[in-house]
Amino acid sequence: MRILFLTHAFNSLTQRLYVELTALGHEISIEFDINDSVTVEAVELFRPHLILAPYLRRAIPEAIWRRHVCLIVHPGIVGDRGPSALDWAILDGESEWGVTVLQAEAEMDAGPVWASATFPMRVAKKSSLYRNEVTEATVRAVRAALERLPDYRAGTWKPTPLAQAQLRPLMKQTDRAIDWRRDDTVRVLAKLNCGDGFPGVRDSLFGQACHLYNAAAFAAHGEPGALLGRVGEGVVRATVDGAVWIGHAKTEAVGIKLPVLEVFPETSALEVLDAGENPPQPPFCKGGGQPTHADRRVPPFAKGGTGGISTTPEIHYEESTSVGYLHFDFYNGAMSTAACQHLLAAYEAARRRPTKVIVLMGGEDFFSNGLDLNYIEAAASPPEESWRNINAMDDLCRAILSTESQLTVSALRGNAGAGGAFLALAADQVWARRGVILNPHYKNMGNLYGSEYWSYLLPRRVGAEQAAAIMRNRLPLGAEAAVRMGFLDAAFGDDLPGFTAEVQSRAQALAAGTDFNERLQAKLQRRAHDEAAKPLESYRGDELKHMQRNFYGFDPSYHVARHHFVRKTLNSWTPRHLAIHRELGWVVPEDVEG
Ligand code: COA
Repeated sequence: MRILFLTHAFNSLTQRLYVELTALGHEISIEFDINDSVTVEAVELFRPHLILAPYLRRAIPEAIWRRHVCLIVHPGIVGDRGPSALDWAILDGESEWGVTVLQAEAEMDAGPVWASATFPMRVAKKSSLYRNEVTEATVRAVRAALERLPDYRAGTWKPTPLAQAQLRPLMKQTDRAIDWRRDDTVRVLAKLNCGDGFPGVRDSLFGQACHLYNAAAFAAHGEPGALLGRVGEGVVRATVDGAVWIGHAKTEAVGIKLPVLEVFPETSALEVLDAGENPPQPPFCKGGGQPTHADRRVPPFAKGGTGGISTTPEIHYEESTSVGYLHFDFYNGAMSTAACQHLLAAYEAARRRPTKVIVLMGGEDFFSNGLDLNYIEAAASPPEESWRNINAMDDLCRAILSTESQLTVSALRGNAGAGGAFLALAADQVWARRGVILNPHYKNMGNLYGSEYWSYLLPRRVGAEQAAAIMRNRLPLGAEAAVRMGFLDAAFGDDLPGFTAEVQSRAQALAAGTDFNERLQAKLQRRAHDEAAKPLESYRGDELKHMQRNFYGFDPSYHVARHHFVRKTLNSWTPRHLAIHRELGWVVPEDVEG
């Protein structure tokens, strides 16, 4: 079928559906919901067999839903209506939530139900639930809906009218407001989580109004509302029965979400609390469960060392039977210069351990999304900060690439984009959870050339032609397709616990394998051979020449694109590579009426 995605943005969920439905053989074109006339034009040009709205903020024009089957994905259980579905589910502490696929009608989210799917809730940010549970449930529900389409067309099946519906209002800041003198940790966390990544919770720090993001429960006690100290770049604030760690804030003056320490330099005067000696309680472990591989924890640094586990809560390391697991859960997968340097130091420390395999675990939601564009945007000199950041990222990649003492594995639990996807390729083996979406290209960010040794890493995995196509096409890549083309070595696990458990057993098998020494030798030989053909430093030098032009040159495209990305400028048109119905030479199909 030709399926037109009508969507507010090409976000992670839309990308996942794009990958899934393309793999089923459907032809997908995308139109951003900019205004009704643009939508009408897109339908006339593409003549879709079906219109799917994975992420829509406005109603579909009547002229369209009356003539075409339009299916809407609503991130709520059957009967739930309204624009803040997931926000209310988190705030109300629902134990189960779901996704409903409805047919568009005059009233928003009130059409008949084509399919639905449910999932158990967990203590997590809204964006994390959206990227994981909501996305998986959407894939199930959309697949079920598509299977019903032939029967619907034949008149042998009808969607179920929505009998009982509850329309809930847009959640306001007054609903989200934290009462530090009354709300317990669970409530504070629910309020912060239900507004993360957007719109955050309006509050104040150091007497200044701001929005708060990126929170986790923290084991400490004090006067409710008081700042008890800092951990990493965030602050610890007391609740009535404990405390929360708050990592990010945004003030109106700066208007960019940044680490609290960046927004409020006063943070540096707070007492440094030791997260290592004051272990976070279960909700801190994103995912709500106990940490995995916990049989032996080895902080990679001596206490107090820069970037040690006590000062950088985003990084932690654990070891189990000759395998070291290095976790780095940076907010939104964004890796600032300091983040890269801390991680490099942690990696070097992990490399010195007597292990056989090092697994780069990334974060739960994202493996990595490359340079920290927010940080760069807020810097006094964005070109200088971009330069520092890319060099720090390259240093990290080089350390992984030149590891001689262990085999290395990247385990992608979450999505990876731009430089973050190539950071993963620096390891010897690259495994991903089956639902992971990769965006291994840079061009969407104002024609950025990219570094992270991609010009060495990508062609050696997929060949020169495929590498050029990946970079040029700028499309999301599903894990299974990535395995087929050699970008990944393996994709497995339908959920996070399943993936993590299998990573553990595969990594242990690698370490215990009778062929371990053979594998290690083969890797060293290959590296030596490649180095002789073209040194790593040459790849880096060539890439950075382009990057220097991107950062400092005459063409400001990268700075403009970054500005729009960070400031979340609304789309005013759909990129041509997504709207295939707007490509030059597109012939309007005649098998469906316009
Ligand atoms: N730096 C700073 N913030 C980043 C980021 C980065 N490199 N990548 C993503 N984010 C933030 C987004 O601004 C968004 O913030 P929010 O919490 O305020 O909503 C959040 O992470 C999620 O990103 P979003 O774009 O909504 O996620 P997605 O899953 O739909 O798309 C990507 C993922 C990777 C395709 C997209 O985020 C992207 O293009 N990122 C930029 C990658 C890049 O160019 N890096 C620099 C070159 S190495």
